[in-house]
Amino acid sequence: MTDASATEGRIITVTTSKAANGGTFVARHEGRVVFVRGAAPGETVAARVLPEDDRDSARFWRAEVIEVIDPSPDRVESIWPEAGTGGLGGADFAHIALNAQRRIKTDILQELLTHARLSTIDIADVSVEPAPGDFDGLGWRSRVRFSADGGRIGMRGWRSHTVHGVGDNPLAAEPIAQMHLSDITVPECVGAIDAVAPSASGPLLVIRSHQPLTLEDLALPRRLDDVDVAVVTRRGSDVLRGSERVRERVGEDEFELYGGGFWQIHRSAPRVLTTVVSRMLGAQEGETVWDLYGGAGLLSVGAARAVGESGSLVSVEGSARASRDAEGNLSAFPQASVVAADVTDFAARADTGADRIIMDPPRAGVGEKTIRRLLELTRQRAVYVSCEPSTLARDLRAAEQAGWRIIDFRAFDLFPHTHHLESVVTLEPATAG
Ligand SMILES: C[S@@+](CC[C@H](N)C(=O)[O-])C[C@H]1O[C@@H](n2cnc3c(N)ncnc32)[C@H](O)[C@@H]1O
Repeated sequence: MTDASATEGRIITVTTSKAANGGTFVARHEGRVVFVRGAAPGETVAARVLPEDDRDSARFWRAEVIEVIDPSPDRVESIWPEAGTGGLGGADFAHIALNAQRRIKTDILQELLTHARLSTIDIADVSVEPAPGDFDGLGWRSRVRFSADGGRIGMRGWRSHTVHGVGDNPLAAEPIAQMHLSDITVPECVGAIDAVAPSASGPLLVIRSHQPLTLEDLALPRRLDDVDVAVVTRRGSDVLRGSERVRERVGEDEFELYGGGFWQIHRSAPRVLTTVVSRMLGAQEGETVWDLYGGAGLLSVGAARAVGESGSLVSVEGSARASRDAEGNLSAFPQASVVAADVTDFAARADTGADRIIMDPPRAGVGEKTIRRLLELTRQRAVYVSCEPSTLARDLRAAEQAGWRIIDFRAFDLFPHTHHLESVVTLEPATAG
């Protein structure tokens, strides 16, 4: 669990300027750009260059702070010391005050939108808002992926496969924190463990292993007796205790899905996104709506309700298992159907279009060609939900070039203490209204 690279590499003194997308801060050293992790904007720090970058021929270097020489007023005591230099990745802003993190994310978002030369919004008005009621950015993760190395459980380091000790993970929801997984050991064939804390059923561990395992092999401590356990190998999934299905409540709606599948991670995210997307989509009775990259149907249910039985809601999802979950979650709506397909293939084959569409792709985004095709098929409005602002900015530029304009842009801090953020954008044909 030690990382030799944490003690190798040349040490430089630099002063950081702005944040870069990806959790680092930009500095210059002898004319070369250095991306510094563990800093804040405007700090002077001593930083160690990553050994793999430490070549004079390299165009840029990445480095980690080893000493803060002149701290930023935004620097605070880290909420998670194990996430610092040479430690685990995944909480790169843990040493920055929460309101400053949101300011930094706003700057990054505005810079990416400016760089994409978007012309239909006032970029200066875009800002990252906290999730309602999230005052400290702690205890929000309803899903945590742990890694295992030689039987010990931890999390991977920044740009490294080394597994580091986790300590008390302050971002984990209480049921996951209570498991104290970093105190246990597991058989060496285990590669990762997903800890899941659903809102309407008990906690679950999905153990990803190279070999089948029994509960006896795992020898989990008594404090985990109430936790459901499933083991996933290449051959499939074995439920060892309880169920691998979980239930999530969002307002009045309940969803059932495979516990190892995709669900919005922040405890408030399902409520925030369903509310905001429904409002921004503005679907009307009798219309046709496509929910693209629909997952287990989280955003589909509100749209199905809005279009009513005289309308049509089609959820398109690439994972067969998530598609089956969506079918179950939409079974009360005869106007809803689920297509298990790649969105690009679906768009290529579609001959009739939709009045409104929702797009909620993974980090890679929709892609320029596919978004152009989807917008050709859309008559009134598109809502784009994105967890990666760089691909969002690229796709929005393609949308503007295709004759669409941005009419609303919201961004939320659904990943506090990390560099990630969630955006929701409404697009309409530029000729509308
Ligand atoms: C960010 S999740 C959103 C899921 C859902 N909208 C939600 O909020 O729970 C993205 C989903 O897209 C699916 N997906 C990824 N690439 C896809 C593709 N090319 N075509 C269809 N679905 C895809 C993933 O399986 C995942 O369920």
